Formats: sequence, structure tokens, C-alpha cells
Amino acid sequence: MQRILIVDDVEVNRELLRNMLKDDYIIEMAENGEQAIHILQEYHEDLAAILLDLQMPKMDGFAVIHEMKNRGWMPKLPVLVISGEYAVEVENRCFELGVSDFIHKPFEDSIVRNRIRNTMELFSRRNQLEQKVKEQEAIIRIQEERLKEERSFNRLMMEYRSAIKEVETKLQVLNEEFTVEYNRNPFESIKSRLKSPDSIFEKLKRKGYPLTLDAIRENLCDVAGVRVICSFPDDIYRLAGLLTKQDDIILLQAKDYIKNPKANGYRSLHYILDVPVFLSNEKKYMHVEVQFRTIAMDFWASLEHKLRYKKNWERSDADEIVAQLKVCADSIEELDYRMQTIRDKINRCSGDNG
Ligand code: GTP
Ligand code: MG
Repeated sequence: MQRILIVDDVEVNRELLRNMLKDDYIIEMAENGEQAIHILQEYHEDLAAILLDLQMPKMDGFAVIHEMKNRGWMPKLPVLVISGEYAVEVENRCFELGVSDFIHKPFEDSIVRNRIRNTMELFSRRNQLEQKVKEQEAIIRIQEERLKEERSFNRLMMEYRSAIKEVETKLQVLNEEFTVEYNRNPFESIKSRLKSPDSIFEKLKRKGYPLTLDAIRENLCDVAGVRVICSFPDDIYRLAGLLTKQDDIILLQAKDYIKNPKANGYRSLHYILDVPVFLSNEKKYMHVEVQFRTIAMDFWASLEHKLRYKKNWERSDADEIVAQLKVCADSIEELDYRMQTIRDKINRCSGDNG
């Protein structure tokens, strides 16, 4: 049988509760807060619930709750307040302090019994769930640590780094050729990044994949990322076409957010490529995410990115910023194409067709 502590300064109340519950539980009783704390000290590991009066001499119910909080007992033990207090503020204050249920005096047998049973059941289920979550988190942490330490993880990262270099080299070769042939650069700059171990694990967990090297290789396409920043929209398509035309590159997926901008105004061309990396005794294809966008859009995207990672927005502020960013994105597109038209005109006037 489970053990319950009844705390009330009025003997009649204690006896009423005891008679009501003695067939189902082992009963401990205290006639004020101080006694309650003594009994809790002795039995708190063994107790399944505490029925607590609020108004008592020496130490009242609130003081008992505070003491239980200080000693870290509240999460382990459901507290049901049984009180003649009808003020809503008092009831709310109890719930804010972590009380599980509030039963009004005078109480009715069956209601008290049912509410005690339900509260205890809910409490133990919640505790079991919390325990499970904690265990799972611990397992995941261990797996993460193991994987991070493993040499094969470092090797996989080396392979991704090499794939980034392959793509960068291909782009640089094209850039040099254009400089020599047409006296212009198809892109302004390249920014590359390897996803950090923490964000790799975060993404695996978020998407429900196991924390293994195979899962990274098969399911994450953006561990190796290359961002190509072009001056004009048509450079983007020209360069992307020249890169994917190369016979050792495989285009796995294309998302054209320039032709189909996102609702927030984001415009960029995303390719997932398979890129060969030549190692001492094998050739391995690695996924690389390549994003092509204009300089102006890159500027926009880095500002917009900040919006995503800031929390606790006032709803109206967030809506306003989103709306302003959308207006900027649309102006950027217009400006990009106007600049491109001017460039074309300049080229035509100077007889340049690069
Ligand atoms: P992720 O899981 O976020 O990588 O998205 P996804 O795999 O569905 O691919 P998508 O091609 O839509 O986005 C790839 C990457 O592009 C993202 O990780 C971001 O870096 C960038 N990106 C996509 N949408 C936006 C956007 O609306 N704003 C900004 N600033 N960046 C974006
Ligand atoms: Mg992605």
C-alpha cells in the first residue's frame, strides 16, 4: 500500500480524511506544518502524496510548500491542498507554487478519493516520462561524444572539406578563364563552410535520423556548403550551368528560389551536387550544397537570417520586420535586373559580348 501524509490542525478533519482513506493507503498524520516537515524528512522517499491544509498554527501550508521547494521535494511528491479558502488568488498562488490539486472544504468522500487517485497517477506518469526523456538525452549525449571522438568522423569531415575544395577549384578555373577570355568575372566571391558537429547532430536529431556516419552521409546534403556570390542574375544561371555541365559532377537536386521566390522574398539558386573526391585508394562522391545568389540578395539574406535566430519577438514587431524585408527583397530583384540591363547596354555600346 502507498503511504499518504495528512496535515491538518483540526482533529475532526484529520479523522474524517483518515477514515476515508485508511483502507487504500497507509496514513501518516501531522497537526501542523512543523510536524509535517519532520514526517516528510523521515518518509519523503516513501510518500505517495500529501494532503495539506493551509491555515494552521506554527507553520502554515504555504510555509510547508516553501520548505518542500527549498529541499527539492516538490518534483517528487504531489501536494493536494485541502482548504476552506475560496479566494481565487489563494488557489492560483497554490498552483503557481507547484501544488497538484486544490480540494475545497467541506469535502465529499468520493471526490476526494478520486482526485487523490488521479493526481497520484498523473504525477507518477509524468515522472516516468521525465525519467525516460532524461535517459534518452543521456544516451544521445554519449552517442554524440563517441561519434565526435571517432577517427572515422574526422575522416568524413576531411572528405567533405575535400569536396568543398573541388567545387571551389572548378569555380576558380571558370573565373580565370572568363577573366582571360572576356575580361570579366562571373562571380564576386565564394564563401564555404563545413557544418559544425553540433549542428550536424542537431539536424540528425531534428529529422529523426540515427546518430551514425552513414546517416550523415546519406541524409544530410548540406554538411559541405559553398555559397557563390554573383553580381548579376544571369551570371548565376550561366555559372551554375557551366559547373553542372562538367562530366564528373552529378546534379542531385535543384531548388530555384529565383524563379520561385520564397514567401519572405528569399531568392537564391540551390543545387545539391555529388562531387568526386579522389582519395589514395578510392573515388568517393560527396554531397555538396551550392547556393548561388546576387551580392544584393546575399546582403539581404544575412540580415534576414538574424531574424530567424532572435527569439522573444513582440508579434507586431516581427510582422513589421517581415513585411519590410519582403519589400526590400522585391526592390533588390528589381534593382538587380535594372543593373543587368545597364551592363548589357554598356557591353553593346562597347562592342563587348562577355
Ligand atoms: P534546411 O534544412 O534549412 O537546410 O532547408 P532545406 O534542406 O529544406 O533546403 P533549402 O534549399 O530550402 O535551404 C538551404 C539553406 O538555404 C538553408 O539552410 C539556409 O542557409 C538557406 N535558406 C533557405 N531559405 C532561406 C531564407 O528564407 N532565408 C535565409 N536567410 N536563408 C535561407
Ligand atoms: Mg539544407
